[in-house]
Amino acid sequence: MDLASQNFPPETLSALAEASAAINSTLELDVVLDQIARSAAAVMRAEASSVLLLDRRFNKLVFAAAIGERDKALLGRQFDADLGIAGQVLKSGQAQNITDVSRSPDFFSGIDELSDFRTRGLMAAPMVYKSETIGVVEVLNRLDGGQFDKTDLKLLSIFANLAACGARNAQAHESLRKENLALRGVVLSGAEIIGSSPPVKQMLKLADRVAPTNSTVLLIGETGTGKEVLAKYIHNASPRADKPFVAVNCAALPETLLESELFGHEKGAFTGAVSQHIGRFELADNGTLLLDEIGDMSGSIQVKLLRLIEERQFTRVGGTRTISCDVRIVAATNRDLKQGIAEGKFRDDLYYRLNVFPITLAPLRQRREDVPALVEHFAKLASVELGVEPRGFSPEAMALLSTYHWPGNVRELANIVERTVLLSDGPELLSTHLPPEVISGEQKPSPSQRSLWGSERAMIVRALEENHWNQSQAARALGISRDNLRYRVKKYNISRGETA
Ligand SMILES: Nc1ncnc2c1ncn2[C@@H]1O[C@H](COP(=O)(O)OP(=O)(O)O)[C@@H](O)[C@H]1O
Ligand SMILES: [Mg+2]
Repeated sequence: MDLASQNFPPETLSALAEASAAINSTLELDVVLDQIARSAAAVMRAEASSVLLLDRRFNKLVFAAAIGERDKALLGRQFDADLGIAGQVLKSGQAQNITDVSRSPDFFSGIDELSDFRTRGLMAAPMVYKSETIGVVEVLNRLDGGQFDKTDLKLLSIFANLAACGARNAQAHESLRKENLALRGVVLSGAEIIGSSPPVKQMLKLADRVAPTNSTVLLIGETGTGKEVLAKYIHNASPRADKPFVAVNCAALPETLLESELFGHEKGAFTGAVSQHIGRFELADNGTLLLDEIGDMSGSIQVKLLRLIEERQFTRVGGTRTISCDVRIVAATNRDLKQGIAEGKFRDDLYYRLNVFPITLAPLRQRREDVPALVEHFAKLASVELGVEPRGFSPEAMALLSTYHWPGNVRELANIVERTVLLSDGPELLSTHLPPEVISGEQKPSPSQRSLWGSERAMIVRALEENHWNQSQAARALGISRDNLRYRVKKYNISRGETA
């Protein structure tokens, strides 16, 4: 629409330009809508104005902004999107100018009653964005007591369209922001800890106790028991949660690389150090640093680390400047550090600095009651990833999973469950879909033995599970003697774990 051909007075045009600039200057939905209502009232010289947004799910018009005496009473209120002049404008997509509402059968007086306001004249224009009506802008009662005219109505229409753009941009921005937060949530939910066995409860109790402090934490457990997840959990439950969580695997890098990875290096510190490098300690400033596999660190790095923990200071490799930073250290190890000390591989002074608050993570075979929940969790994750309906494991398969000795702990379980979900179809995941080591237990059967052996073992496990590991009852269910069952339990190396 050509604004000049509408013969708007210059002051109206500049007010409109100002309004449009204001609308484009922010992406906060509330602020944009408030600005829209405010500008509309000013440009039209109206007593009150409102922006109503359509909520399609419930077919409601919602007061997203309201300017005038009645503003507070109305914000957030909603009413049927078919009601009143606004409802008509929404449906028809045509702006309306009602000079005297008392003579309009369509006028809905409910809002005046709510807000103690008496509407005399009202204009409403649809907010159209890409041929979709997303709301209505209204202005009420001219300040001078007169009536809105044709020119005012055109102006309001231009205004409402402009407003629609601003609102849509803000809405798009807001939904992106929310999506972003949700994604962040998903990433952080990597720190979700599944399990309710006594060892897990105890571990979480300790983690909850130490999380709010700045204390150094030492996590001790076999590989795959969840040391890294627990470190993230502690970080997320600490006042540092919105600061960085940085992990370094001390076993993965050769000594010199690890040193520059941890502490950084200055340009030219060594051949190949073509530029300055910021180390993980600096990256984790104000946050948490996980030093994983700490038992594998070399002696010289142990010395530097000790100094860092004692003085909270370090220098970059090849540098002279002392750098201080505020980092909460969580160390993790799958080795017996005391044995490392005895062998002269680990400094005892460093050990005592790290061992301030130790938390031990139990191997999975010592908390088999957590297996079903973990299996379900990882099966669901794998189905989501594959985009297929989640499927459950048959009782027989679950019994095998529950009795397997899990040398790789939760990591192994996660891998096996994911692989099973990936490789099998059918409504239920069966024991035959499981890898041979799970079917056979700890023994390594010959291929010819495998299937028969697997099914017999599975039958026994299942009977035991169903009878709450009461061997007499299980033997009766299987139709064999108790001694026979006992013999087979031994032969197949079936155990309920250390709790059995
Ligand atoms: N209690 C648990 N609940 C949910 N997932 C877990 C749990 N313990 C371990 N995991 C998962 O198992 C895998 C290995 O855990 P991780 O923390 O890397 O073990 P570690 O550092 O002890 O070797 C990861 O995918 C982790 O998410
Ligand atoms: Mg790890």
